[in-house]
Amino acid sequence: MRKIVVVYQSKYGATKKYAEWISEELSCDLFERKNIKLADLEPYDTIIYGGGLYAGGVSGIDIVTKNFDQLSNKNLILFTCGLADPMDKENTDSIKQSLNKVLTTQMQNKIKLFHLRGAIDYAKLSIAHKAMMAMLYRMINKKDYDSLRIEDKEFISTYGKAVDFTDRSTILPIVSYIQKL
Ligand SMILES: Cc1cc2nc3c(=O)[nH]c(=O)nc-3n(C[C@H](O)[C@H](O)[C@H](O)COP(=O)(O)O)c2cc1C
Repeated sequence: MRKIVVVYQSKYGATKKYAEWISEELSCDLFERKNIKLADLEPYDTIIYGGGLYAGGVSGIDIVTKNFDQLSNKNLILFTCGLADPMDKENTDSIKQSLNKVLTTQMQNKIKLFHLRGAIDYAKLSIAHKAMMAMLYRMINKKDYDSLRIEDKEFISTYGKAVDFTDRSTILPIVSYIQKL
């Protein structure tokens, strides 16, 4: 019997929602990253890590990268949760480019990657995040609209609003990948 765990780090709750859905579907354990140590992962042979995307980086991914040597004998699955639409290859390519900076080739070969779409409510952002988004908005808004990437056009159109793209059905490829292991 496989022992599976979902570990997540989520600031505003979208990644948490996906992590909970995946653990429900697989009837497996679920931990928030801040509540576990490497030793807690020892009993599992399949680890699913989910983190929100912040300026291209996956929050909390260092639990996988720093401990890769100890985890590399396990099945490793990573899901990102961001606002950019993962159905669009331009967006997933840009996430992969950012991940190239933190994942070695060996890690990339070992870790199965999935991208899920999150949510944002500008009214609920921390002051620092509001400021970051405002700066980004001003930067993108200065550019010629037609030359913008899809991700940036969507950012402009959703800026300041509350949008929620979380969708339980989008976890199915992750669930079926794990069920086939
Ligand atoms: C400061 C900031 C930076 C963000 N950067 C990205 C990004 O680079 N790519 C992306 O797709 N989404 C980005 N987002 C959107 C978040 O990834 C999205 O809100 C996600 O649902 C957050 O997950 P969480 O609620 O689990 O933390 C950003 C949001 C904030 C507030």
